Amino acid sequence: MQKRNHSAVFYRDLKTIPPTIVRGQGVYLEDSSGRRYLDGSASAGVVGIGHGRSEIWDALAKAGDEVTFVYNATFTHPWQEGLASAVLDMAPANMAGVYFVSGGSEANESAWKLARQYFVERGQPQKYKAIARWQGYHGVTLAALALSGRTSWRQIYSPLLLPVTHIAPPYEYRCPFCAEQGGCNLQCAEDLERAILTEGPETVAVFFAEPIVGTSATGLTPHADYYRRIRDICDKYDVLFVADEVLCGYGRTGAPFAISAWNVEPDMITLGKAIGSGYAPLAALLVSDRIRQTFSDGTGRFVHGLTYSGTPSSCFIGLRVHEIMTREGLFTRAAAMGTLLRQKLDSLAERCEIIGDIRGRGLLVGIEFVTDRKTRKPFDKSSGLTGRIVKAMRERNVLVAGGIPLSNFGKDGDHIQLSPPFIINEKEIDELVSALENVLQEISGSL
Ligand SMILES: Cc1ncc(COP(=O)(O)O)c(C=O)c1O
Repeated sequence: MQKRNHSAVFYRDLKTIPPTIVRGQGVYLEDSSGRRYLDGSASAGVVGIGHGRSEIWDALAKAGDEVTFVYNATFTHPWQEGLASAVLDMAPANMAGVYFVSGGSEANESAWKLARQYFVERGQPQKYKAIARWQGYHGVTLAALALSGRTSWRQIYSPLLLPVTHIAPPYEYRCPFCAEQGGCNLQCAEDLERAILTEGPETVAVFFAEPIVGTSATGLTPHADYYRRIRDICDKYDVLFVADEVLCGYGRTGAPFAISAWNVEPDMITLGKAIGSGYAPLAALLVSDRIRQTFSDGTGRFVHGLTYSGTPSSCFIGLRVHEIMTREGLFTRAAAMGTLLRQKLDSLAERCEIIGDIRGRGLLVGIEFVTDRKTRKPFDKSSGLTGRIVKAMRERNVLVAGGIPLSNFGKDGDHIQLSPPFIINEKEIDELVSALENVLQEISGSL
């Protein structure tokens, strides 16, 4: 046998050996040295119901000998049927079907393919193009990365990416259309019409947007009329609208679906992360009645399929997660906890000059840092500020996610994401915010 002087795992960063986590309970994780961390990011926004819910594993152990695997092209099973019904029952009224997959990238890639086939079914095969937004994130598989507007992750792979037109994000703090005008004038929504007209409406199939932006610019929350305008433009040019709720959905903003706050019905919604809450690799694509009807009146068959789509153990766990969230009010708890978190952050901002903007909804909060509040000038990349904040927080046993550079074409600009589990309580929020205050005070002094 070959001898190795390194771990057998090909880590995401081979220069940093990650600590080994051996236990998780509630909002805390514990590593093999006994160190406890407050999981202020819910581990990439995933663990909505919190760590260490043994009732899920107990239930799975009992159910496990009933059905192991069912191939979705041939059979269905009660857990897939049950979870699809439970999700649809709380979805916007026009949603009519759920297609389960294993992750958010797969969900978005499936959505683009479904949009393409929808127009083929309707005799418009020339409609296939996708439009998305800069600073949006839809995943890392090639089509999902092509949709993503995260420049720093796209650049290496750009020769491999399908062409996707990106429009301006609803980023009021640095908006090229309205930053000087004293408020959003919806030009960021009009940008969609310009892009559709430039591409040729007869070629455009679908528009993707995260209702509230995640890690590429955490917390960007568009104007109250933004999605109504997006919906109108999509309807005018017969373009489908996909709301990517992989991060912002399933309770994170204080409602089952973030888009409901705009009272707009998308044509498709993608879910991920909290739907499995880390207990199963589970994600979903919800499709509207119009799309379902087109397929059932046409070939009836979505030419697409993943081996683990709707796999029994994932759907079983998804149902248990749904039960827990319903029982404990976790589909809406983030509203109250988010208000509390926001109050404490606003108060912190009064004492901390480098906080330029705090934004988001519920327990999806972004904090952007600036050298000067008036000019909103970002820190230079060489300051490595985001990385320093994340590292210093970790040294204080609190985990937060570092955001992607925001300005100067993905080169500069610092922000962090706070997205704790939905079960977080006031004491734990205090712990999170006071660690942040200490870290920012310490770092501000050295900038
Ligand atoms: C909004 C959004 N869409 C899609 C994805 C991709 O999901 P996954 O990493 O499960 O493929 C993510 C992941 O962070 C996300 O935040």
